[in-house]
Amino acid sequence: MSFSAEDKTRLDEIRSHYHDARAASVSVMRWVQRTNGYISDESLQDAAEYLGLPAADLEGLATFYNLLFRKPVGNHVIKVCDSVSCWMCGYERVRDRLRERLGIGFGETSEDREFTLLPVVCLGNCDNAPTLMVNDHLYDRVTPEGVDSILEAVRGHGGNRG
Ligand code: FES
Repeated sequence: MSFSAEDKTRLDEIRSHYHDARAASVSVMRWVQRTNGYISDESLQDAAEYLGLPAADLEGLATFYNLLFRKPVGNHVIKVCDSVSCWMCGYERVRDRLRERLGIGFGETSEDREFTLLPVVCLGNCDNAPTLMVNDHLYDRVTPEGVDSILEAVRGHGGNRG
């Protein structure tokens, strides 16, 4: 992938919100991810060239931020909060239901490529624990039964791109 003129216009707009290229790195990579579903080696290299930074610096950032994906993910990415409030309010039951229904563990993608399951730290929604996020949508006070409804509602719809 190489950035088109249209891509560069969009990237320039993102870049303009930051005082330097390094500060813009994560936002640029998030845009690449929204556009392509994940950050391939080639697009990481393109982003580094666009920003005028070493690719190794972006690689380090992408590794640090677990919401930047360096390999293809499912159509829906489920991020399950495993921080303290959610632990205390039923995280384990929610996690177990997800694993059981999807047949995958954390860091894995379902065979039909519909879902990727990831653990995340506090989503800032502790008052509504346990909580999880599917793509960019936050779900409050999730129960094991609620997991079934969420999967049913999102399966085959929308996705994490765009
Ligand atoms: S601990 Fe789960 S949202 Fe804060």
